[in-house]
Amino acid sequence: MDLDKLMSKHLTRYFDPSRTIPEETLQQLLRFLRSTPTSTNIQPNHFYVIATPEGKKQLADNLGERFQDNAEKILNSSHTIILTTRADLPGSHIEAVFNKERADGRFPDPAKQELWESMTRDFLNLRNYGYKDVNHWMEKQTYMAVGLTMMAAAELGVEAMPLEGFDPTTVDKAFKIRETGHATTVLLALGYPDPTKQYSNPISRFDTDELFTFV
Ligand SMILES: Cc1cc2nc3c(=O)[nH]c(=O)nc-3n(C[C@H](O)[C@H](O)[C@H](O)COP(=O)(O)O)c2cc1C
Repeated sequence: MDLDKLMSKHLTRYFDPSRTIPEETLQQLLRFLRSTPTSTNIQPNHFYVIATPEGKKQLADNLGERFQDNAEKILNSSHTIILTTRADLPGSHIEAVFNKERADGRFPDPAKQELWESMTRDFLNLRNYGYKDVNHWMEKQTYMAVGLTMMAAAELGVEAMPLEGFDPTTVDKAFKIRETGHATTVLLALGYPDPTKQYSNPISRFDTDELFTFV
C-alpha cells in the first residue's frame, strides 16, 4: 500500500460505470470485512452487497430527496455495501456470539470462555444501563469496519467511498431492513475512478500542530 499516495488523494466522487470489481477481489474484500474486529466481539452488523443494476437503482431511488447528488455515485459504482447495525441488543444476540466463540474454539479452556462471557455481560450492562449508549456504541463498531475496509480496498486497488448522505428511513424501508432488527448506518460505494473526472486540487486538513499533542 502506498501511504503517501493515499494521504494526498481525494475520495472518489466519480466512478467509471464500465468497470466491475473482479469476483475474486470482491470476495477477498468481503472476507476482510467479515474479519474486522468489534468491541467485545459483539458483531452487530449485517451487510447488504448491492451488485446488480436493479439493486443499485433501488438504493439510488431511495436516498431521500435532499441526497440525490449521491445517486450517480451509487449507480456508477461497481458494488455498494449497505452497512447496517442492530437496532437493539437482545440476549439472544449475545448468546449467539458466545455460542459461535465456543464452536470456533476461541478460548480452548472453558473456564477462560466463562470468564470472558461474564466480563462481556458486565460491560454490556454498563453500556445498556449505565452509559445508556448501546446503539451509539454498536454504530461506532460499524464505522471501524468502514474505515478498515476502505484501507483494505486501497490495498486491493479498489476505490472506496463512504456515504452518509442518505435518509436511513427510506433506505431501510426499500430493503426491509428494520424488519430484521437492524437499521442502516452508512454506505460504502466501491469501484474504479472515472479517469476523466479526477480532482487535482490539494486536499485540505488542519495543520499537524493543531492535531497532535505530544506529552
Ligand atoms: C464517513 C464519511 C461520509 C461521507 N459521506 C459523503 C456523502 O454522502 N457524499 C459525498 O459526496 N461525500 C461524502 N464524504 C466525503 C467527504 O465529504 C470528503 O471526504 C471530505 O470533504 C474531504 O474531501 P477529500 O476526500 O476530497 O479530501 C464522506 C466522507 C466520510 C469520511
